[in-house]
Amino acid sequence: MRSKVTVVGAGNVGATTAQRIFERGCADVALVDIVEGLPQGKALDMLESGPVVGSDARVVGSNGYEETAGSDIVVITSGIARKPGMSRDDLLLTNMKIVTSVVQEVVKYSPGCILMPVTNPLDAMAQRAFQVSGFPKNRVVGMAGILDTARFRTFLAEELDVSVESTAAYVLGGHGDTMVPVVGSTTVGGRPIADLLSPSRLAEIVKRTQDGGAEIVGLLKTGSAYYAPSAAVAQMVESILFDKKQILPCTAYLEGEYGIHGLFVGVPVKLGANGIEEVIEFDLTDEESAALQRSAAAVRELVDVMAAAG
Ligand code: APR
Repeated sequence: MRSKVTVVGAGNVGATTAQRIFERGCADVALVDIVEGLPQGKALDMLESGPVVGSDARVVGSNGYEETAGSDIVVITSGIARKPGMSRDDLLLTNMKIVTSVVQEVVKYSPGCILMPVTNPLDAMAQRAFQVSGFPKNRVVGMAGILDTARFRTFLAEELDVSVESTAAYVLGGHGDTMVPVVGSTTVGGRPIADLLSPSRLAEIVKRTQDGGAEIVGLLKTGSAYYAPSAAVAQMVESILFDKKQILPCTAYLEGEYGIHGLFVGVPVKLGANGIEEVIEFDLTDEESAALQRSAAAVRELVDVMAAAG
């Protein structure tokens, strides 16, 4: 029997995620949205591409949660996206309410699922999903680090004229302006990045990575990125469904790792059939460590605002 993945939110990120999962044929997909007809129409359109793309997976759209019952993974993309001039944090209270109501429904129908929040501000939404679901920490894993890392790797590959596959990097911390590209462990073809680029050029690439989401928002004007975000979600879904145990930067609940307590922050994790099977701690320079603490403090501020709002 095929696995089942629910994607809540049939907008840009949600529909593209559903499409990627459907086309890989790795799971049946339930696509949910509050807009009447939207998830049904997109799901049917996707299903009808099956004979051409060679997928026998099922994809159904609905405005309720009955169709989501028994999901292995539930990806949450419902919420509002950024417009030019907005930061991810500007979305906080609106998306907090949406994520709260969605998680309450999801857990009724799929009490054993792995929750994968994507809605921004991501780390705060993961914290909310964790609290509302009451799930153990291994079953709540947020998508952000793979996306931020993919942007960093894309820019490095372009700069050095090499394959993106020859770059290795991790971007940690919160999914915001304070994210931490770990320069010390970034390599291209096995060589440390510091040997290949000047500090000033590297700093420019780090800055472009940190502003990567805003760069897309500035170009699109009516919404935010979705091709790279959905690709990152699909990688996480496959690592879990196929128990690949890939080590990927994801948003995880920390209880002392990296000196951070009781907070969701982006760190490398081993992602397998049980969700987060291990938080991987690697050595950071003093500077990187301080940047990670600053990033965690920024996430904590959002979590405090949510707590005050109820
Ligand atoms: N239940 C289900 N769906 C909802 C709900 C809800 N309570 N509230 C909103 N939605 C749906 C909207 O109807 C819309 O179709 O969520 C969808 C969001 O889609 P887009 O506006 O296209 O936004 P998108 O680009 O997909 O981004 C979604 O992901 O990357 C993050 O920052 C981004 O928070 C944003 C989220």
